[in-house]
Amino acid sequence: MKSPGASLRFHMEAAEPVPHHLAPVIDLPRAVAAPSVALRIDAVGKRYPLEGRPLEVLKNISIDVEQGEFVAIVGASGCGKSTLLRLVAGLDSQYEGSIVWQGQRVTEPSLDRGIVFQEHRLFPWMTVEENVALAFGATRVGPAERRERVAQQLAVVGLGGFENAYPHQISGGMSQRVAIARALVLRPQLLLLDEPFGALDALTRLKLQQELQRLWEIDGLTTILVTHDVEEAVYLADRIIVMSARPGTIKRVLRVQLPRPRLRSSEAFQRIKEDVLSDFTDVPAL
Ligand SMILES: Nc1ncnc2c1ncn2[C@@H]1O[C@H](COP(=O)(O)OP(=O)(O)O)[C@@H](O)[C@H]1O
Ligand SMILES: [Mg+2]
Repeated sequence: MKSPGASLRFHMEAAEPVPHHLAPVIDLPRAVAAPSVALRIDAVGKRYPLEGRPLEVLKNISIDVEQGEFVAIVGASGCGKSTLLRLVAGLDSQYEGSIVWQGQRVTEPSLDRGIVFQEHRLFPWMTVEENVALAFGATRVGPAERRERVAQQLAVVGLGGFENAYPHQISGGMSQRVAIARALVLRPQLLLLDEPFGALDALTRLKLQQELQRLWEIDGLTTILVTHDVEEAVYLADRIIVMSARPGTIKRVLRVQLPRPRLRSSEAFQRIKEDVLSDFTDVPAL
């Protein structure tokens, strides 16, 4: 069965610019030609005070993210990726420009926007189940439903049976899955991921990338992934946004139109990866 996200993605592909000689004679219906914008980041700038003087970290960032889209933001360390994600999460409201999510200006965190950080941020004295259940915080969800939803979400991320384990009893990859479960258990509509697999070994990273893609396909979640791993971005994203450093600006936007699941060894995959990498090295790709 096709998820709503899958059908939206189909429309997005149909809305791609068509070479002029192939353009249809009749106009496409508007619903197909204009996918809906879920998140609008408009002319966003951010400065931090540093030794009494403002340090400009983000400058004129504008990105429209479509409903159900998977956007990856890549850039060198220090270019402002985490800062941008924190603004979208509503964790920092001091910025220029505007960030509008589902028609509302973002000024504070909201339960419909889940975030996962590079470190799993689990409490060592709490079980896996308790760590995930923390997400419910002051919500009105009752204890029985909390337990049921936590169990369900842990099963979805492949951790059924680990409810009572403590963080020190599970691997780094499993801990990161717990963090993902904690972000998803509230059924957010926007998933924000800040280098979620950056601290994991290469094989675990590949596995979790596959799983993230599966979760995204099932739920049709609008997703923003911040990463410095270009291959991860090409594997997962509909669109890659390349940022330049100091202050962080948008250097380039690329659409990845390879069918999923993507084959990393394919020539087309490698070509896109090298193309993005060339933005960082500023030398022609080999
Ligand atoms: N709270 C803060 N106060 C002052 N400077 C900060 C703060 N947070 C981040 N910075 C600076 O802003 C820049 C961007 O940081 P960050 O968004 O973490 O980059 P990235 O995630 O791309 O590595 C860095 O130069 C960093 O030192
Ligand atoms: Mg960061």
